Amino acid sequence: METIATLRELSGAKALLALKCFATWGVFDFMRDYMDGTTSSSLNEVRLGHERFGKETHAYSVAYADYEIDEVISHADKIIFNSIGQLTRFADRASGITRGLRLNPGVSSSSFDLADPARPFSRLGEWDLAKVEPVMDLVSGFMIHNNCENGDFELFDRMLGQIEEKFGPLLRRAEWVSLGGGIHFTGEDYPLEKFAERLKRFGGEYQVQVYLEPGEASITKSTTLEVSVLDTLYNGKNLAIVDSSVEAHMLDLLIYRESAKLLPSDGPHRFMICGKSCLAGDIFGEFNFDQELKVGDRISIQDAAGYTMVKKNWFNGVQMPSIAIRELDGSIRTVREFDYADYEQSLS
Ligand SMILES: Cc1ncc(COP(=O)(O)O)c(C=O)c1O
Repeated sequence: METIATLRELSGAKALLALKCFATWGVFDFMRDYMDGTTSSSLNEVRLGHERFGKETHAYSVAYADYEIDEVISHADKIIFNSIGQLTRFADRASGITRGLRLNPGVSSSSFDLADPARPFSRLGEWDLAKVEPVMDLVSGFMIHNNCENGDFELFDRMLGQIEEKFGPLLRRAEWVSLGGGIHFTGEDYPLEKFAERLKRFGGEYQVQVYLEPGEASITKSTTLEVSVLDTLYNGKNLAIVDSSVEAHMLDLLIYRESAKLLPSDGPHRFMICGKSCLAGDIFGEFNFDQELKVGDRISIQDAAGYTMVKKNWFNGVQMPSIAIRELDGSIRTVREFDYADYEQSLS
């Protein structure tokens, strides 16, 4: 949070929490002092941002429905449409708040096709300057999200240059530009001052208020998923089954074929940490431990805040992890526990 506050100060950019990544509102009272507000991907998120976080509330969605647009507008001070079709359809109804459009520069930092906004035939934003120019009187700014877990400042800088080249004439007519999320500027060794200078220069060149929408960067290394060993087996490898499930609680690990993170250990005991759902590949990863794992041992899965609590599900009826907050003084407060009624009510 302090890194974000420093960046805002150095660059003049505003930082909005991307609720799609992290929406655990029990800590919004703490985060609010360091950020300018929230951005959203749906009616539910924009309402949560408005009611639980406050400050600036940006609305964005890949597509809004007729039946929800008025409620979306009632919670937002800015609405960013994903397409010219959505913009022209809802422009009048949104005329009381700031309106914007998502642009797609056709370049991204994603190496994973599934998460690449610039993938061929992408539906995420408008590409064609000639089509956007005629609707310029309906918008005062743009959102461009084309970074993805990008910890490489030079790459960010290069892509921003390409954006300027492609969309320069539009940017000159804008009052604000959001550069989206996906920039790993809170990571260790990220050149924060260079980044701030680049944002400030961009804002100055086009005379726009710059926004960032950090999701992952807001909560990196803030959270652990605490699991306990329920059983151990040996099937050619040491296996430990824990009281959680990758598919239910850390779905992105499956989607992006990644391993969970544990604190480094080069101990002699290697174990595969497995989830308790029926999915054969429900595996957190393989790690070294100082001691052989046994039933009841506790394991802390690191860096577990992003795209976890917002995606968790009741697959196999696996018990949801409780949500607990560790206060600055070290004390731990459980703020939410889930029970059978939550499971039952999620189904009918
Ligand atoms: C429009 C937009 N803004 C912000 C974000 C947040 O990205 P991240 O969590 O990688 O910072 C995303 C992620 O997909 C996004 O699509």
